[in-house]
Amino acid sequence: MNIMKYTLLILTILLVSSGIHAQERVVTELTNGWKFSKGTNEKAFENDFNDSKWQNVTVPHDWAIYGPFDKEIDKQIAAIEQNGEKVATEKTGRTGALPYIGEAWYRNQFSLPNFDKNKKVILLFEGAMSEPKVFVNGQKVGEWNYGYNYFYFDITDYVAANGKNSLAVHLSNLGLSSRWYPGAGLYRKVKIIVKNKESIDQWGTFITTPFISPDLAKVTIKTKVSGENLRIITKIKDAKGIEVATNENSTIFGNEFEQNIAVKNPHLWSPENPYLYTATSQIYVGDVLKDETTTRFGIRSIKYEANKGFSLNGEVRKFKGVCLHHDLGPIGTAINKAALRRQLTILKDMGCNAIRSSHNMPSLEQLELCDEMGFMFLAESFDEWAKPKVKNGYHRFFDTDAEKDIVNLVQATRNHPSIVMWSSGNEVPDQHGAEGVKRAKWLQDIFHREDPTRPVTVGMDQVKATLASGFGALLDIPGLNYRVHLYEEAFGKFPQGFILGSETASTVSSRGIYKFPVVKAQSKQYDDFQTSSYDLEYCSWSNLPDDDFVLQDDKPWVIGEFVWTGFDYLGEPTPYDEKWPSRSSYFGISDLAGLPKDRFYLYRSRWNTNDKTLHILPHWNWEGREGQTTPVFVYTNYESAELFVNGKSMGIQRKNNATPQNRYRLMWMDVKYEPGTIKVVAFDTQGNRVAEEEIHTAEKPYQIKLEADRTNLEANGEDLAFVTVSVVDKKGNPCPTATQQLNFSVTGKGTYRAACNGDATSLEQFHLPTMKLFSGKLVVLVQSTSEAGEIELKVTGIGLKTAKIPLKSN
Ligand code: GAL
Repeated sequence: MNIMKYTLLILTILLVSSGIHAQERVVTELTNGWKFSKGTNEKAFENDFNDSKWQNVTVPHDWAIYGPFDKEIDKQIAAIEQNGEKVATEKTGRTGALPYIGEAWYRNQFSLPNFDKNKKVILLFEGAMSEPKVFVNGQKVGEWNYGYNYFYFDITDYVAANGKNSLAVHLSNLGLSSRWYPGAGLYRKVKIIVKNKESIDQWGTFITTPFISPDLAKVTIKTKVSGENLRIITKIKDAKGIEVATNENSTIFGNEFEQNIAVKNPHLWSPENPYLYTATSQIYVGDVLKDETTTRFGIRSIKYEANKGFSLNGEVRKFKGVCLHHDLGPIGTAINKAALRRQLTILKDMGCNAIRSSHNMPSLEQLELCDEMGFMFLAESFDEWAKPKVKNGYHRFFDTDAEKDIVNLVQATRNHPSIVMWSSGNEVPDQHGAEGVKRAKWLQDIFHREDPTRPVTVGMDQVKATLASGFGALLDIPGLNYRVHLYEEAFGKFPQGFILGSETASTVSSRGIYKFPVVKAQSKQYDDFQTSSYDLEYCSWSNLPDDDFVLQDDKPWVIGEFVWTGFDYLGEPTPYDEKWPSRSSYFGISDLAGLPKDRFYLYRSRWNTNDKTLHILPHWNWEGREGQTTPVFVYTNYESAELFVNGKSMGIQRKNNATPQNRYRLMWMDVKYEPGTIKVVAFDTQGNRVAEEEIHTAEKPYQIKLEADRTNLEANGEDLAFVTVSVVDKKGNPCPTATQQLNFSVTGKGTYRAACNGDATSLEQFHLPTMKLFSGKLVVLVQSTSEAGEIELKVTGIGLKTAKIPLKSN
């Protein structure tokens, strides 16, 4: 082909494809141009269109994360019944001590350049915290109570054909409405979709893969449409973008097309090989193209069978999962894909293969990443049904909203191959009583109606009650929260033939903090409001990781576990619910900044079967403890190892069955502290020395050290680099007890976004460019702007050598 022809061809393709998108369907994200005002009264702003003095914000936005932390916010005088409390006491920090309570307005203007009488306009919210009431051009178009759900309105009849339209959203958060930090505001995306009247309905596509063999998969695509005399053409492309199948169909059942399409030699989706296909469906009237959507999907099979357990693509496997709340630490709940990706990258390295979105709908971004990066997903819906846990919780809406909330959850997310299970509830008080049994069945039936391909669980803590009432027996998957002592009984009595650890462990620890003497302890408190990283402390209802490992390893009918939690989260500062200052959790395997605690390596040593783990704790800077007993633990997938303190052997330890801890940890309980070096040498099964690790007593903090998770950002105004900041001594040894105040500045095409040190008792505001180190570390978040270029983060601290790190964005 000569150059002239080639250029023309490209031009034609460009014209045709831009034409398609300009006419058929235009999706606009409303990110910029928002005005925000936090007020007290809905009426105050409803008719006042002068928003010139309102704050300019971008969406996603969390109005409460900027603080300040305040003990009085959402102070609750309550007995937390789920925790077994009988007497009401003052609880502070339960929802993060951040100002999420109150009412607020968001306003924006949007235009619809391609709008005419043949078009339909959809306004989509991927979540709004909470109780959003939505107005277009001054008229109310609808409302949605549950802050965690996705919802949309058809606003065709409210928009003006030409010129600007105004959008106003009123939000309201009541106190006593949550058990953790819920965030506040338009914290997920807002989109406007303009399409033809003849088009594919919102969430109208449902793709399943009911038959899979090595040489053939049946891909069933049901597509709900609006309009008359329609014809559908669907093309399936593989991960490389090569078309592998196509199907045309003009038979419509009611308003639904059903296409069964053969994909030859299918690549199956799994955590190890998260292979994704796309299906592009086009709707025609005659020869005129009316709509086009592309849906990503995976080909995979799931099965849950008595005595066999869970299998993916025919292979039995267990969930090595974590529960996650939706906040992203220092940036709060404002959804950010880079922050989510970093969490999943950390979890992947730990060997984690599954996520539970406790206790509500996951963000669509998180599901997309789980599809791409390979995580199985337990998508949860509610923390309350009709009976309350907190005074102003979801029970207020349950009767009227539960069905439509489930419908939206399922319809918006069902094409994600990562989702392998739904959950209709977590520890709902309705586990007690006959009404609760009916509700469990009602909700499960709604899930089944909307998605016949996935089972439903409930995280049950009232196991005895659910054994007696039939509640547990009717569930597709009986999920036990904690209650390791009841697994056997539940397996014996429930009919399903397997048990899921829907929530496990709830061990507490503070990164880099170790307490002596080293003993197992329940609900232990210390004067500094920290918990010990020897990983031996838990709550009255919970247990240590090793207790779960025993069940996972010894009981083939246990199908896996979801640890509470993968990361610390804002709020629920157990065991210091009654202590101030303490405003975030201690349950995380990694801290609020995403920095791994020691427990990370305990899970990694079991779950990551590709890489070796050899991790020593505690740190070795114990001035004042000379000669005192300072036990050393090693988390490793080697069976045995020898410990040396300043070259002197402390003997060989071998994993054994004396206690659950002995089975999964190597522990030298009698080591006396002396400054210097501790070294561990690991042996293979033949007794060969195969790996070693050592840590040193650090001298005075000397210089700041910076390590970025990524140095190349996207110049999109929202990408983030997470820079771990630590201090080291003159020889480069990390200083594990350093607490210096550091200052941050960002120059070039980036901005300082936030910092976090993982200290649950810190009241420093995340968005201010200064923070103290906690256990020698913190993390700084640098955000790209929409302009590409060089970025530099500089970190200074009194008496410390300054550090700079170059980043860039494209
Ligand atoms: C569970 C509950 C979680 C969290 C956890 C703390 O009972 O489902 O939301 O509160 O306890 O251990």
